Amino acid sequence: MERNIKELIDGLNEDLAYELTAIHQYIYNAAVVSGLARLTLKDFFMNEAQDEIKHAQYLAEKIASLGGEPVVDAKPITPQRDVKGMLQITLQAEVDTISRYTKRVEQAENVNDIELKTQLEDFIADETKHKEEMERLLADPRL
Ligand SMILES: [Fe+2]
Ligand SMILES: [Fe+2]
Repeated sequence: MERNIKELIDGLNEDLAYELTAIHQYIYNAAVVSGLARLTLKDFFMNEAQDEIKHAQYLAEKIASLGGEPVVDAKPITPQRDVKGMLQITLQAEVDTISRYTKRVEQAENVNDIELKTQLEDFIADETKHKEEMERLLADPRL
């Protein structure tokens, strides 16, 4: 296997681990969020988890197509019951994810995989929407 394909597969496996972590984090957040915030945030977190499931599934398929082995171990989540803390952790995770995908777009370009590049750019759009929603929730002066 070419070295740059191997590096790309390793990177996509790192992305997959973080998508699985995001799914776990959102399921946890939806389960424990309490108080009045629960009325809106429970559904919000579950909807975000649906996007991350699509991302994880695509990455696992793509890794296999490239000849790699999809890693399905997630990283540990950060348990946080305080609403503001929960949103801050989630915001940081989205920011980090956008930066990983930005690097991965470059790697996809380097191996001329336009399909992967296009998908990753779509993912960056999804994660940017998640990030912006989180920033707007955090703008609530009552938090
Ligand atoms: Fe995602
Ligand atoms: Fe996200």
